[in-house]
Amino acid sequence: MTIPVIDFSNLAGEERAKTLAQIANCCEEWGFFQLINHGISEELLERVKKVASECYKVEREANFENSKPVKLLNEIIKKKNDEKIENVDWEDVFLLSDDNDDQWPSNTPNFKETMKEYRVELKKLAIKVMEIMDENLGLPKGYIFKAFNDGGEENKNAAFFGTKVSHYPPCPDPEKVNGLRAHTDAGGVILLFQDDEVKGLQILKDGLWVDVQPVKNAVVINIGDQIEVLSNGRYKSVLHRVLAMPDGNRRSIASFYNPSYEAILGPAPALLVGPEAAEGEVEVVDGLAKYPKFVFGDYMSVYAEQKFLPKEPRFQAVKTM
Ligand code: OGA
Ligand code: NI
Repeated sequence: MTIPVIDFSNLAGEERAKTLAQIANCCEEWGFFQLINHGISEELLERVKKVASECYKVEREANFENSKPVKLLNEIIKKKNDEKIENVDWEDVFLLSDDNDDQWPSNTPNFKETMKEYRVELKKLAIKVMEIMDENLGLPKGYIFKAFNDGGEENKNAAFFGTKVSHYPPCPDPEKVNGLRAHTDAGGVILLFQDDEVKGLQILKDGLWVDVQPVKNAVVINIGDQIEVLSNGRYKSVLHRVLAMPDGNRRSIASFYNPSYEAILGPAPALLVGPEAAEGEVEVVDGLAKYPKFVFGDYMSVYAEQKFLPKEPRFQAVKTM
């Protein structure tokens, strides 16, 4: 089994309907898919790879060598202990956003400029992907965007677009620690630019862990918990994890388009239409909602505590209406 690969450029041509249907199927059955010909230039992607690797070497590697996972694993190896470490991840990570650009790595030539350019392109792609989901779900164009922006992008409650730069360095004993423990993603749409060669990311599909196979310069899309809620469960946020690997330093750059913390989420009313509605009439049946309404900021507070636990109790914990 491999993760479906979709040629995004086909949306512009004769194969539009077929491609829309493929994407709908991925959202319903997989929660993950890979986009090729997504419109982001190879030249930019090559520069992103270069600055990310350089940044790790110049500004991160020394800290990782002294980090908690390295210390814990060394202790276990020394003691010849068989236990697995379950409270940390074998990962180096930092977050880039518009709000924290004074704290971005600054000792790697071209890092800032390149990542700014990259984020502009990825944000545009995120909005396009959300519009495809609108269309596939039968929602008005821009519905998801508006729901996440709490009314409009210009207001202070705009959606949050973040970029998480991760490296998973080679691990001396990958059986004893996870690269990243299994979880679903809390937010909206996630766009991942993963390593060309070093694998490690897996999703849970029908009870089996399936590799998200590296495809050079593809962008992996996955569905966060809020799209599952908004679609009333038609689209799934699926469990995924990263395995620690004995060889190679895996790069992964995850950008996520998340609702504003003030946004009120819940199933789209248009998807709660009862069967007795007459032609052209919309009768919303609240009883069809499989998820409560809640404030996204509240969800994130619960998620911070429960990221690595099953997702269902999180929805009930934040129920307000
Ligand atoms: C995440 C995630 C996967 C990866 O950051 O939520 O799942 O490959 N990352 O780094
Ligand atoms: Ni994730």
